[in-house]
Order: sequence, then C-alpha cells, then structure tokens
Amino acid sequence: MAVIGLVGAQWGDEGKGKLIDILAEKADIVVRAQGGDNAGHTVVIGDEVYKLHLIPSGIFYKNKQNYIAGGTVINPSSILTEMDNLVKRGICIDNLRIDSRAHVIFPYHKRLDELSEKVKGNASIGTTKKGIGPCYMDKTERVGLRICDLISPNFKEKLAYVLQLKNDIIQKIYNEKPLNLEEIYNEYSVYAKRLAPFIADTSALIYEAIKQNKEVLFEGAQGTLLDLDMGTYPYVTSSHPTSGGFSTGAGIGPTLFNQIIGVSKSYTTRVGMGPFPTELDDEVGKFIQTNGNEVGTTTGRTRRCGWLDLVILRYAARVNGLTQLVINKLDTLSSLKSLKVCTAYELDGKVTTDFPADLADLERARPIYKEFKGWDEDLTQLTDYNKLPKAVKDYIEFIEKEVGVRVSMVGVGQGRNQNLIR
Ligand code: GDP
Ligand code: IMO
Ligand code: MG
Repeated sequence: MAVIGLVGAQWGDEGKGKLIDILAEKADIVVRAQGGDNAGHTVVIGDEVYKLHLIPSGIFYKNKQNYIAGGTVINPSSILTEMDNLVKRGICIDNLRIDSRAHVIFPYHKRLDELSEKVKGNASIGTTKKGIGPCYMDKTERVGLRICDLISPNFKEKLAYVLQLKNDIIQKIYNEKPLNLEEIYNEYSVYAKRLAPFIADTSALIYEAIKQNKEVLFEGAQGTLLDLDMGTYPYVTSSHPTSGGFSTGAGIGPTLFNQIIGVSKSYTTRVGMGPFPTELDDEVGKFIQTNGNEVGTTTGRTRRCGWLDLVILRYAARVNGLTQLVINKLDTLSSLKSLKVCTAYELDGKVTTDFPADLADLERARPIYKEFKGWDEDLTQLTDYNKLPKAVKDYIEFIEKEVGVRVSMVGVGQGRNQNLIR
C-alpha cells in the first residue's frame, strides 16, 4: 500500500511522464491533480512515442485507473483529441475518469491568454496560450464553469452569463470582436455528450481505493519553480505543481501520502520567460539543447538550457518534503569534458544557499560552481547502476549529499528500460 506523489523539482519537463509510466506498472491508480493541457508528458514504449497533455501517463496499462481530478482545468476539445488519438493507436481509454469539479477551458480563456500576452509585450510570461491562467482566474473570481455545469440542463444560461462578462473585457479593454454564444454552446454541447460517460467523483474513488490498500500514484505537471506561490512569480503557471497541490487538487488529505518523489534533469531547462541563474548562452548550452533534444512537448519552443542548480533542488526538497530524488538524462551529458554544478549564489557580495523570493535578487544572483570531471561513455545501454562510470557516480553522490535526499533512480534514455534503480 502506498500513496506516492511525483513532482517536477525544476521548471517542468524533468521526465515526469516517463517515470509515471514506469512506476504505474506497480500502481492501481494514476492521478493528475492540477494544471491542464499546458503540460506535455512524453512516454516512449519501444518505437512508439506518445505525447500526453491531460491524460495521465498510466493509460498504457489496461488494468489501471486513470483519474483527472478536480484541481485541473479541462479543455474538452483537447482532451477528446487526445482520447481519439490514443484509441486510434490501440490504447484502451475505458479506465479514464474526469472529476465533475474540474474547471472547463472555453475559447474566451484562450483568447484572453493570447491578448494578455500581447499587451504585456516585453513583460510577457511566455505562456503556452492554452487559456490556463484565465481559466484559473475565473475559478478564483468564482465565475468559472465546471465539468458539472457543462452537463447541467442550465448550461446555456450559465455560459451566457459568463460570456457576457468576458465579452465586455474582450471588447472594452482589448477592443476586439466578441465571441458568439450560439457557436460556443453548440460546440460544447457536443463535447458534453462525449465526455459524460467519463465523469465521476474522483476524490471519493481515490479515498475508497486508499482504504482498500491500493497503490495510488499522483502525476505532477509543470514543476516546483512554476508554482503560483513558491515559483519564480510572476513567471509561473496558475496552479500548484508542488506536492501540496496533490492534496488540494485531488481532495485527498495530506496525511495519506507516504512518499513524495522529486524529478530533476542532470542539468536545468526552462521554456518561456523569467530568470534562470545557471543558463548557458554558449556552445555548451547549445550542446545540451541539441543532444538532449530540448524542444517543448506542448509548444515546440526551444528550451533554454543550463547547469544543474542545487540551490533549486534543495529548495524543491524543502517545499515539497521530498523523500526521494530521481535524476534523468545523464546520457545527455556524455562527452562533455567537464561539468559544473551550482552549489550557492553570490548576492551583493554575500554567499547564499537560499532561493530568493524577489526576482530582482534572483536576477542579480551569480552562481557559485563546483567543477566535475565529465565522462565519455555512452550510458544508454546500461541496465545496472553499479556499472555506471565512476565520474557519473561521483556526480550523483555529490547531488545527494548536497540536497540531503536519497537519489533512488537515474535516467539514461527515453525508454521504459532506460531507468536504473540505485
Ligand atoms: P515531463 O513534462 O516532465 O513529462 O517531460 P517531457 O516529456 O516534456 O520532457 C522530457 C523529455 O526527456 C522527453 O522527451 C523524455 O522522453 C525525455 N527523457 C526522459 N528521461 C530521459 C533520460 O533519462 N534520457 C533521455 N535522453 N531522455 C529522457
Ligand atoms: P510539464 O508538465 C514546462 C510554463 C510556460 C510559461 C509558464 C506559464 O510538461 O512539465 P501557462 O501556459 O501555464 O500559463 O504558462 O509555465 N509551462 C511549462 N514549462 N513544462 C510544463 O509542463 C509547463 N507548463 C507551463 O512555458 O513559462
Ligand atoms: Mg513536459
């Protein structure tokens, strides 16, 4: 029996999808509890590459339940496309359930996301433009429509009320054309019919499963530094990708969690705008980007790359209460002569190991590096942690000591078998 959460320890794209697919083999239920189709989780099974945005990465096992809980935001068109694509590829989606409390993304959310990014100009966040922020804004303003509203007989009335509010903003603030009620209503009525068989109270289902000693795996989306409270605000997403988000997002008490696993790359990446102290604007950065194929799964944007930052990993260990750490993509660093790891920042002449809350401080922070010997060996065929070159083991042991959390697994490739247990 175990209730396990898996969180991104950096700015997202740490390889959460891959790990959930691997860990799901032993689990009964996989749950997404926050975020929406801004997430892009890659699972590679043999020669097949799957890119999931909302559907949990446990979907590839026929006998596992996959729940999208109430803390998420659902774009019906996007999830239906994802469902159809999986079915076309022979994947069974009968075990998918969507919570009736989840908020629904409408065309006005996407429109407002685009318009808000446009007017911000140089100060734009670099969002995925999926309407995530505007949908969570409606939730906190308490005018959002949820999955239960989508299937309610009063759906049209509810939509008309909210659309009026949104069209006011679109017309009066942005000077753009209003959206049409009939069009949205007709489109979303079709979605409602298709989604109806998948709707459930996932909070109750998860609780019952935990009482029956089932294993439940929570799949984080985004990462710690994109958390609305604990991330590099305002360059964050609008939900809570830290471990507390599992509890509030799925309606499961925090005392029920046994393990929180943090996932990191062996270096750091970021998509979108915002500070990044260890970013590399040189040949090494380019090498990591190319060798690691660092291209965004959702937006196709090139990911910014830099050295591993232990100030960030220590911070992630603290704010998530990490009990284990996984380091992915060690294979990407093969053939670099030397590697650097940031152990602290120098800020205004003082050394700090705390991650600053104020972005102005973070922008001035200069990384202090420890240098490591690189390795030339190709790691992708290894199946035993002990067979890793000494230089790799030294690197891992240093991370573990500095972060104070046990590194329990490392990744040496995209595939299901390219994960070494320590
Ligand atoms: P997620 O959002 O955290 O699920 O991560 P993404 O799927 O967006 O990005 C991670 C990328 O790294 C994907 O293409 C994965 O297939 C890939 N990946 C994960 N672990 C490893 C690894 O150990 N080595 C290599 N080379 N690729 C990996
Ligand atoms: P996964 O789950 C990496 C980033 C966007 C932008 C910021 C806000 O694949 O790790 P949003 O559209 O959420 O309002 O954008 O957050 N972002 C991600 N970056 N991985 C993700 O998800 C992300 N989801 C959002 O690039 O900087
Ligand atoms: Mg991703």
